[in-house]
Amino acid sequence: MSFFIAASVLSADFSKLGEQIKLAELGGTDWFHLDVMDGHFVPNLTFGPIIVKAIRKLTNSFLDAHLMVTNPDDFIEDFVKAGSNLITVHAEAPIHLHRTIQKIKSYGVQAGISLNPHTPLNVLEYLLDEIDLVLVMSVNPGFGGQSFIPQTLTKIQNLKKMIDTRNVKIQVDGGVCAENISEIAKAGADIFVAGSAIFGKKDIVQAVKDLKKG
Ligand code: DX5
Ligand code: ZN
Repeated sequence: MSFFIAASVLSADFSKLGEQIKLAELGGTDWFHLDVMDGHFVPNLTFGPIIVKAIRKLTNSFLDAHLMVTNPDDFIEDFVKAGSNLITVHAEAPIHLHRTIQKIKSYGVQAGISLNPHTPLNVLEYLLDEIDLVLVMSVNPGFGGQSFIPQTLTKIQNLKKMIDTRNVKIQVDGGVCAENISEIAKAGADIFVAGSAIFGKKDIVQAVKDLKKG
């Protein structure tokens, strides 16, 4: 068993980002997860398309942009141009979520919907045929290094049933570590975001390897 890892650069040392990205790749990370925060949708600010463009120059890996912003429609094109391969927006943010998903797909990149811990699965009912991924938040978005919320496991199990035979991946974000990854996978998750469990460790290569084997 080898778990599919999306390394969140949020916890990386940005003064040596190129080096840290290479180390995560050496460990076998599958994707890089880019946490975009606007200080409105979440109580924190991170980075925008300029940094994504810089990261695109540092790696050929798949770039997964997680937009924690109030008005994602205004930025989709910028993040596509910067080199994102997948754009995930929050179900709680745009008023016309279906339109937002259509807009992402119109650029030929993959589309994901993220759900905050309190958001029920039924918002996905008429959208599951349109998207590539559901990002289940297992912490309240905004910060790295928080603890995994245990109720997320039931949510993942129910989502798995809801997805049924569709080709929609379940991604989990927040508090994922080598100690809980197997249990989260058992619930039905396919892709595991990890920030502090990778870039918060002394040996980044080993940290990714530990996560991959669980
Ligand atoms: C939180 C972000 C996460 C964060 C996860 O809002 O969406 O991607 O980087 O960090 P860890 O793995 O430290 O919980
Ligand atoms: Zn994230």
